[in-house]
Amino acid sequence: MIIRNYLPTDNAKVYALETVCFSNEKRSLSVLEKTANLNNFVGLVAEESGEIVGYVTSTYCLDEAEIITVAVSPNFRKTGVATKLIESLISSLKNLNVNTLFLEVRESNLGAISLYEKLGFTKLSVRKNYYNGIENAVNYRLSF
Ligand SMILES: CC(C)(COP(=O)(O)OP(=O)(O)OC[C@H]1O[C@@H](n2cnc3c(N)ncnc32)[C@H](O)[C@@H]1OP(=O)(O)O)[C@@H](O)C(=O)NCCC(=O)NCCS
Repeated sequence: MIIRNYLPTDNAKVYALETVCFSNEKRSLSVLEKTANLNNFVGLVAEESGEIVGYVTSTYCLDEAEIITVAVSPNFRKTGVATKLIESLISSLKNLNVNTLFLEVRESNLGAISLYEKLGFTKLSVRKNYYNGIENAVNYRLSF
């Protein structure tokens, strides 16, 4: 498996993976394309035998960045793909003089929360009923 930069030609494949991973919550293809075109976008994909099996997307401003999405194909989960993606993202962000990374996650997403805490992210705050007015969002931060 290789980790490489997200290319404009990846949008359709990432959209297909996002559809699998987020069902009702996925972004539209055009939003994905617009985001990937931003000057302050940093994205990476994990590729196995030419197929995109995971991706992480982020934007940054000055010395801070935010993860937009991280997702891994169900067949490739629990094999360290997301860990490698986020660690590689941190390396890329360091090269841009970013030193703090934020993210937001559903309180019920225990797998993702476990991933973030294992990587050293610490809980920053909770946004009550942020998702559809019924589920809390938890904000995490990692300084490096
Ligand atoms: C969350 C997600 C990105 C994790 O990807 P992954 O490649 O399976 O994660 P890793 O293999 O790097 O896991 C690293 C650690 O995270 C934790 N973890 C990951 N998935 C977990 C799960 N389902 N349950 C509990 N802990 C989990 C574990 O601590 C794991 O370490 P371990 O394998 O030694 O136990 C993946 O499950 C996914 O794509 N989910 C759907 C999309 C999503 O919810 N994205 C996050 C919100 S934006």
